Amino acid sequence: MNKVDVLLGLQWGDEGKGKVVDFLAPGYDVIARFQGGPNAGHTLVFEGNKFVLHTIPSGIFRKGIHNFIGQGVVLDPVVFAKELALISNSVERIDKRLHIAKGVHLILPTHRLLDAASETSKGKAKIGSTLKGIGPAYMDKTGRNGFRAGDLLTADWKEKYEQLKRKHLHLLQNFDVKIDFNMPELEEEFFDAVEVLKSIPFVNGVSYMQNALKEGKRILAEGAQGTLLDINSGTYPFVTSSTTTAAGACIGLGIAPSQIGEVTGITKAYTTRVGSGPFPTELFDDTAAYLAEKGNEYGATTGRPRRCGWLDMTALRYAVKINGVSKLCLMKADVMSGLPEIKAATAYEIDGQITEDMPFDLNIKNLKPVYTSFEPWNEDLSRIRKFEDFPPSFVRYIQFIEQNTGVRVSLVSTGPDREQTVFSGS
Ligand code: GDP
Ligand code: IMO
Ligand code: MG
Repeated sequence: MNKVDVLLGLQWGDEGKGKVVDFLAPGYDVIARFQGGPNAGHTLVFEGNKFVLHTIPSGIFRKGIHNFIGQGVVLDPVVFAKELALISNSVERIDKRLHIAKGVHLILPTHRLLDAASETSKGKAKIGSTLKGIGPAYMDKTGRNGFRAGDLLTADWKEKYEQLKRKHLHLLQNFDVKIDFNMPELEEEFFDAVEVLKSIPFVNGVSYMQNALKEGKRILAEGAQGTLLDINSGTYPFVTSSTTTAAGACIGLGIAPSQIGEVTGITKAYTTRVGSGPFPTELFDDTAAYLAEKGNEYGATTGRPRRCGWLDMTALRYAVKINGVSKLCLMKADVMSGLPEIKAATAYEIDGQITEDMPFDLNIKNLKPVYTSFEPWNEDLSRIRKFEDFPPSFVRYIQFIEQNTGVRVSLVSTGPDREQTVFSGS
């Protein structure tokens, strides 16, 4: 049976999913985004260009490959129209190579306002949302009030829009904080963007996927965010509002669990997190500054600095397990070259007890990571193109990750560019 491969992040996002999807895309016929929205920022670097994609799948720059936005995604027409404009000179016949499921929920301008009001009113307890309207749009979806792309094809869609807007404006008044906005300006931008969105074909998403599978198309599902930001299995409440795990590919694309093939998990060789929430292996010293600076750890969507720390094997094993990861991609080890020491946490100590399991809540005071040290590497990995040329100390780090997770590292990334990618040969 033909199956859909899945590629997703195993940490708190920004693992390098965009880069790897773009790299692997020539091996597929269709690249399909299954969840999240413009909170995502997927960076692609090739032939001297750099693009950051928020909504459009990362296969869009590869000739002849189709891209699909599945029903699990929430799409902001304003962000989408800007994204389309930015890539239009570099991509041919986009209306023939991009399809949008009618079941995609739209982010309205008032969803963004509600996101801002909700975050501001939380004060210090804020999630650190990207403020793209993700939470409120998914709330409307699960509350069965949402506005779907397919609604735009109906005669009375403006009425439906007005109804939802009225509800949102009413809700906004219930917050203690005041959010400034200019509704006519926001709406002008939104309605213009809706026209741009309508230039891309809307399809019955489930039929699109099932027919593609039946026709033998090779399909790669592209995740956004990361496992630890998953609404059910992540570090709640410091999570996003979608299912970022492999199960999300089923619900977000309309495929069965038995139609999932390989699950490729992406992890950095260290850990980053942008926004609030627990991060046991976070560093606040020179190493953190080194990783942030050399790794250019600033959010691709918001520009916020990313918090940096060591690799957390407890979290990684958890992510491997709940996603059924069959292959690993190891990213950004080039950034760690030159560090005087390298560590990874193999377990947590909670109130003097060692545990190798992910606790219910990571946000507890008495939790300490248990570290193992590794021999560092000084060699510049960014120029290496063959696995055999990696320094022995880095190979031992890879082997440690493989043994600890029970999954092979099939691909190693040594820089942002498409070319800076090394297959492990296994
Ligand atoms: P995504 O959201 O998972 O697609 O990741 P982002 O694009 O938000 O963040 C990854 C960042 O690291 C981007 O700036 C990439 O260009 C960059 N990057 C990806 N892989 C590597 C790598 O192996 N080494 C280095 N130095 N940078 C990388
Ligand atoms: P990609 O796909 C990293 C984080 C935000 C915040 C939390 C909730 O580029 O890996 P939201 O806007 O969803 O309400 O924010 O999730 N977050 C991400 N962090 N990468 C992302 O996407 C993220 N998308 C959301 O910083 O902590
Ligand atoms: Mg990102």
